[in-house]
Amino acid sequence: MTPLISPSILSADFAALGEAVRDLDAAGADMIHVDVMDGHFVPNMTIGPGVVSALRPHSELPFDVHLMVAPADPFLEAFAEAGADIITVHPEAGPHLHRTLQTIRGLGKNAGIALNPATPLSFAEPVLDMLDLILVMSVNPGFGGQAFLDGQLARIARLREMIEGSGRDIVLEVDGGVTPDNAARIVKAGASALVAGTAVFRGGASAYADNIAALRGSGGRARAR
Ligand code: DX5
Ligand code: ZN
Repeated sequence: MTPLISPSILSADFAALGEAVRDLDAAGADMIHVDVMDGHFVPNMTIGPGVVSALRPHSELPFDVHLMVAPADPFLEAFAEAGADIITVHPEAGPHLHRTLQTIRGLGKNAGIALNPATPLSFAEPVLDMLDLILVMSVNPGFGGQAFLDGQLARIARLREMIEGSGRDIVLEVDGGVTPDNAARIVKAGASALVAGTAVFRGGASAYADNIAALRGSGGRARAR
């Protein structure tokens, strides 16, 4: 299967995010992964809905917004208004995951949950019928440039079985430490989308298309736009 590639702008030059989004679009990215961090749920802070809104006009690609914030509920409407297409939350970010997902879908957005390396996969089971995406964290969230946690491969395979069993078209996305060296194994385990920051931004804008193609694997030439 050829995976969707969702470059994370966490690795971009934060002084030129609009240019980065335009360059990623031109280089053939399938989505733009926006890592939102609050310095509370994760030990880092990044951007908020105002930046997402500023970036929206720079690409028509889906904005794949990963909320590493707690609580997430107070910010769902703002990110939906700002132009998020997919809003992904961590189950630990609030007391009522079902209601949070109901709210995201009620805002007309695709809903995702992100599972940290130690979060039980069973968190996904009761809400599978509400999910458009499951994000497997293959690093502990907060920073780019970390090493892929190989132990997540078995969890990716288990989630693929759960998704097949649900009969739903749920994107299984993997985030953290994804490189051309491990991408094929991650896809073979069952991933249908890959988030990458370091591996895409390496070498600068002239390298984005080749870096994205390398993650897609053989035959995955970048779609120049
Ligand atoms: C962690 C972030 C990173 C980022 C990808 O909280 O979510 O995983 O998206 O970073 P790289 O590809 O540099 O590991
Ligand atoms: Zn992320």
